[in-house]
Amino acid sequence: MTGVLSKFIVSTLPPALITTQGASLPAAALPTSITHQVASTFRPMHSESESLLAQNLGKREIVMALFRAGAIGFITFYIVRWILRFADPTYQQKQKAKTKAKEIMERLGVKNLTLNEHEVMIASHLVDPNHLKISWADIAGLDEQIEQIKKTVIYPVLAHQRIVRVSRLIQPPKGILLYGPPGCGKTLIAKAMAKESKCWFINLDVSVLTDKWYGESQKLTAAVFTLAEKLQPCIIFIDEIDSLLRLRATQDHEVTAMMKAQFMSLWDGLITDPNKTVIVMGATNRPKDMDSAILRRMAAKFHIPIPDLNQRKHILDLTLKQEVVDSDFNLDRLAQITDGFSGSDLKEVARSAAVACLADLQLSRDCLWERQGSSKSNKSIRSVDSGAGDEPSTTSSSGASGKASSSWLSGLWPGRRSSELSSLNNCSSSSLGHDNMAIRPITMRDFEGAVAKAKEAKAHCQAQQFRQHRIELD
Ligand SMILES: Nc1ncnc2c1ncn2[C@@H]1O[C@H](COP(=O)(O)OP(=O)(O)OP(=O)(O)O)[C@@H](O)[C@H]1O
Ligand SMILES: [Mg+2]
Repeated sequence: MTGVLSKFIVSTLPPALITTQGASLPAAALPTSITHQVASTFRPMHSESESLLAQNLGKREIVMALFRAGAIGFITFYIVRWILRFADPTYQQKQKAKTKAKEIMERLGVKNLTLNEHEVMIASHLVDPNHLKISWADIAGLDEQIEQIKKTVIYPVLAHQRIVRVSRLIQPPKGILLYGPPGCGKTLIAKAMAKESKCWFINLDVSVLTDKWYGESQKLTAAVFTLAEKLQPCIIFIDEIDSLLRLRATQDHEVTAMMKAQFMSLWDGLITDPNKTVIVMGATNRPKDMDSAILRRMAAKFHIPIPDLNQRKHILDLTLKQEVVDSDFNLDRLAQITDGFSGSDLKEVARSAAVACLADLQLSRDCLWERQGSSKSNKSIRSVDSGAGDEPSTTSSSGASGKASSSWLSGLWPGRRSSELSSLNNCSSSSLGHDNMAIRPITMRDFEGAVAKAKEAKAHCQAQQFRQHRIELD
């Protein structure tokens, strides 16, 4: 066995490394039994016939050695690759990204574009505008900002694409920054841009740039720009950009520092083509944390503020467009009592008010089941839902029975006005008659309740924050 093994090892070694004395430097590292075998295999040869035989054997052995080396190399390559795949926790994620990228590019009609492995990873973050539901019409109260964005970014891009003789100065800015308090519509604007700008849109997830292998992060960063350049005109959007391009500090990790530096040089067009339309767009609510060199590159800055009275009215109007509100609903009053609320807070108020109706409906149904249960104890819930013949007197919204129901409902909600109770009663009756539930209109009272709840939560959070600061300061 050892003989066969040693012959095999020796046969794969280059002849220059083996001497007729038995062992040179590399062979000396082998066990004695093997070196002995080597010596016996390569004995000194004297006669011509012997040397001819040796020559023939040598050729054959060389071919065999090459074949064996090739086979070993091939098998080793696949084993190592399999082990690396097994050891790489991101392998599945990378494979998924590749499939997604192929799918998106096919859907978007990208053909004849050769992409390297890293560009494919980034391409999985391309946004398909047809899949987005947000358009400019879905943003309320930010007309001025939207108009400015269109003038500064979209029109110059279109001019660059369509007008043949165009001034060299008519160009979109290389960077755009949307900044302002949380929940005021920055990401919303980015979504509308992706849908309506007619540019390629890469929604860059910062985590995709981080890779555990040294040098991979830089390759991925470079791929962002090379892909954008190949596709151009292209917008690279980075939400919460401060997390990637925050103030550079000496204690930054080496890879992070290199990534930031590379990002800036690629952005400048030092390595990429400066004539291609590639725009970096960022959104942040912490502009102060951003590096001044990055802020310099983002020439167009748009402040997305907390909405004022008029803007709140627009946002509420848009949010409640599809909703059924009661006749007592007063938009002006709701806008007034929501001073200091962001767009996202206003949406939450509307949602909370709508859910309050649902809670009322559920309560009324439970009560009706109870009432019915007391008269017909063996009825199942299903029969209550659909049995029109089993309806209690409260299910009729008209005449004497309607009044009767309103009176028992007023017992449940003593503070409610009669209009609210009758609408609640109506909904109870309709829900009892059919499987599909109808919900009563949202009243001003629901909105006021939701606003009060939101204000209380805000005050609580602010108090917590204040206490936290106090602890830190103390
Ligand atoms: N101007 C607006 N018009 C309509 N809806 C709005 C508006 N502003 C905010 N909203 C609502 O608030 C939600 C959150 O908005 P968005 O995600 O754009 O906030 P943001 O400014 O990106 O906040 P953050 O800084 O926390 O990321 C939106 O999905 C939308 O429903
Ligand atoms: Mg956002």
